[in-house]
Amino acid sequence: MFKVKEKYNIAIIGATGIVGESLLNILHSRKFPVDKIVAIASSRSAGSKVKYGDTLIEVVAIDNYSFENIDIAFFSAGSGVSKKYAPIATQKGVVVIDNTSEFRYIDDIPLIVPEVNSIEISKHVKKNIIANPNCSTIQMLVALKPIHDRFQILDINVSTYQAVSGSGKKGVDELLSQSHSYMNQQKIKPSVYPKQIGFNVIPFVDSFCDNGYTKEEMKMVWETQKILDKNISVNATAVRVPVLIGHSEAVTIKTKKPIDIDSVFDDYRNNEFIELLDNPERNEYPTAFENGHGTDKVYVGRIRKSLNDDNILNIWVVADNVRKGAALNSVQIAEELIKGGK
Ligand code: A2P
Repeated sequence: MFKVKEKYNIAIIGATGIVGESLLNILHSRKFPVDKIVAIASSRSAGSKVKYGDTLIEVVAIDNYSFENIDIAFFSAGSGVSKKYAPIATQKGVVVIDNTSEFRYIDDIPLIVPEVNSIEISKHVKKNIIANPNCSTIQMLVALKPIHDRFQILDINVSTYQAVSGSGKKGVDELLSQSHSYMNQQKIKPSVYPKQIGFNVIPFVDSFCDNGYTKEEMKMVWETQKILDKNISVNATAVRVPVLIGHSEAVTIKTKKPIDIDSVFDDYRNNEFIELLDNPERNEYPTAFENGHGTDKVYVGRIRKSLNDDNILNIWVVADNVRKGAALNSVQIAEELIKGGK
């Protein structure tokens, strides 16, 4: 059982990565009650320093790290690392908040978007693990929750436009170096992605499954059903685009009840986690560059009803994939946890 205290000892696994850096930044700026922070990465980074506010923290290699006296561990170093080290942490009584897909689909492990299903957090007691969903799922479900509550969503069709930071620092480096090579008429040799990402759009994220969908697309199916409603059908196409930070999504939903578009707008205006930017006359709609970089909210716009069906609605959804899609969502989970695991 998680013990509520005044301050907590925190471990960040993957502290030198994009999400790890963002976790340190968000824990500090939101004044999470921290006693001690341990920054952990691979042995390659041992001895290097990461920033927590104005303090520099020395990075510790994960090999042989004991997790002694840690209360909460944020894992963001890939599925293999979570698979190997999360059980070592949980055996020591640490609550693991895991950013990888390693534990998301296990029944006894809650999969949490705090704006949608924070009530489920208490289920962590069985395994001491809380899973953070996939970035594309998180922003879509924050945007769809008010509509589901009012009109009951039956089907979701979604195409994602995913930034390269979703692949970590190596994705960002690949886009920057390919852009530089292209501008200088140099040869481009893809390495992180199977095809050139600079000045291109790739309809492939993660890996292919036997059913022809990609794993990223299937994550949106499984996670929507686990978090929002097991009866919703999801058709997803996940696409990587040459954007550094900020995922965008074109979402079309079909609902059981006819949609009253005014109440959709009202619900969004009154939702503290969502920013409505929808004003065609003023060219107002969210974009990844302007609204999905360094922001905490989920941005919605381009809201239109189907031309010929009262139960179909189109929305454009943008969020910062590193913050709301990963680090911020994890910190929000921790904030709920320390309220007493409501
Ligand atoms: P390191 O910098 O030592 O490689 P990103 O997603 O931005 O690429 O970051 C991945 C993070 O996961 C980094 O902090 C990286 O540390 C860490 N990481 C990768 N592989 C391992 C590993 N085998 N053990 C521990 N940490 C790892």
